[in-house]
Amino acid sequence: MSPTAFITGASQGIGKATALLFAKNGYDLIITARSKDQLESVAKESKSLGSEVIAVAADTSDRSAIEALINLGIQRFSQINVLVNNAGICMSAPMSQTTIEDWEKIINVNLWGYIYTINALLPHFIEHKQGNIINVGSFGGKVPLPKMTAYCTSKFAITGLTETLRLELEPQGIHVSGIHPSVTSTDFLERAIFKDSDPEAEANRRQSMEKMLTSPLASKSEDVAKAIWNVVKHPQAEVVVGSAKVPAFLNRLFPSITQGMMSNIS
Ligand SMILES: NC(=O)c1ccc[n+]([C@@H]2O[C@H](COP(=O)([O-])OP(=O)(O)OC[C@H]3O[C@@H](n4cnc5c(N)ncnc54)[C@H](OP(=O)(O)O)[C@@H]3O)[C@@H](O)[C@H]2O)c1
Repeated sequence: MSPTAFITGASQGIGKATALLFAKNGYDLIITARSKDQLESVAKESKSLGSEVIAVAADTSDRSAIEALINLGIQRFSQINVLVNNAGICMSAPMSQTTIEDWEKIINVNLWGYIYTINALLPHFIEHKQGNIINVGSFGGKVPLPKMTAYCTSKFAITGLTETLRLELEPQGIHVSGIHPSVTSTDFLERAIFKDSDPEAEANRRQSMEKMLTSPLASKSEDVAKAIWNVVKHPQAEVVVGSAKVPAFLNRLFPSITQGMMSNIS
């Protein structure tokens, strides 16, 4: 029987690269995202690599849809071995421009979406005394980034969720890892919410983030997928992927220096 991975946000970017890498390595897949056509095309590509695939369009902030999909996956494959929580959206705005509705949107997807999958899969992992939970966080969950308060709040929460859960579940044979990408060249900004005090400032903010995502320093989706694969094979507490390794490390040792630098570039 092939092992099975459940991957959220698998229609494109990091989630898609992860799905294809797991398919290449003999995994069956349960994949989800909201865009049905894109998801089906990833399913088709994964099947051509030999995987059996369940692909269901769902919003990860819809708890009952996620629970139903996990139950369907367990029924069909008998066992799920790996959970990759990856579906996420970005928001860049000063706090004064961030509405409660924006907060709810970011927290519902970036935090509750991860909690729903873990909550639904945990009894299965505990029963089988095995499982890997990989939470895709962000360097924005390791280093505070000004004018990204809602996004960083959600990602710092993922860091806390991952580190705490790891300690709790390790004795039960369940490995929990955090993968924290630096800027990665994907279409992440297509879904991002940008806000600022005026349209020009908002356009500038979008432009400067677009520049970062297309810079040679940006990681590729495949780099992040490889890191996810590696922690499944050789469990580790966390990996920062790409160029933010150094600031993430410095922030742990010398927070005032890193944070001083961050407020100067905001
Ligand atoms: N790219 C970066 O620079 C970067 C840096 C640090 C961390 N990350 C993190 O890496 C993860 C993946 O990002 P990415 O760069 O691959 O972004 P992406 O290309 O925009 O992909 C995001 C994926 O999540 C899905 N998604 C978004 N909202 C969803 C929802 N409500 N329900 C279900 N699926 C949803 C999207 O599909 P649908 O729209 O079809 O639902 C898509 O498949 C995110 O958690 C992000 O925070 C990215």
